[in-house]
Amino acid sequence: MGSPLFRTAACVLAAASLIAGCRQNDDPDGAAALWDQVGASTSAYRAAWRRAPGYEQRRASDAPHGDDVDIFVNPTIAAALDAKVAITSWPVGSVIVKEGFDGNDRELVAIMEKRADGWYWAEYDGSGDPLYSGKPSICTECHASGADSVRAFGFPKP
Ligand code: HEC
Repeated sequence: MGSPLFRTAACVLAAASLIAGCRQNDDPDGAAALWDQVGASTSAYRAAWRRAPGYEQRRASDAPHGDDVDIFVNPTIAAALDAKVAITSWPVGSVIVKEGFDGNDRELVAIMEKRADGWYWAEYDGSGDPLYSGKPSICTECHASGADSVRAFGFPKP
């Protein structure tokens, strides 16, 4: 399912249940800063970070963010994976970037950053305009089944 369809469905659902607004874009400035921090304009994490376990190459998504995805983890979460110590949450400072593609077109970027108060969420169109930011329930609810909200891979096995 492509993301425009997903967003339309989300807006219909939000309107139906009278939730204020349909975008849940509470922090566009913060999301823009995070976009710059990870170097998303040039996909800087492609050279600097590691691919997520199970996502060693681009593959079909199980989620409504793009048809195919690349997922990258920053050194903080990579170190937690390498340590092979049992944990029940990812360390503060963990960042995961997911790029969604339609063919060769990057049609969206989604970022999760673990902060002292929990995960910060942001999703952008391919050029970096934030569509969702903050702690959108649409993100948190579907990700609740993950390992401390991470869906693509689990905690390290000691
Ligand atoms: C309907 C379920 C669903 C919703 C809604 C959803 N995601 Fe995801 N997300 C997934 C799944 C499943 C994955 C695993 C990778 C894949 O298959 O694409 C994932 C992967 C990710 C990843 C890579 C790290 C991880 O957790 O695996 C990020 C970052 C991400 N999503 C961000 C977001 C953001 C931001 C939102 C809200 C705008 C969001 N997601 C909404 C299901 C969802």
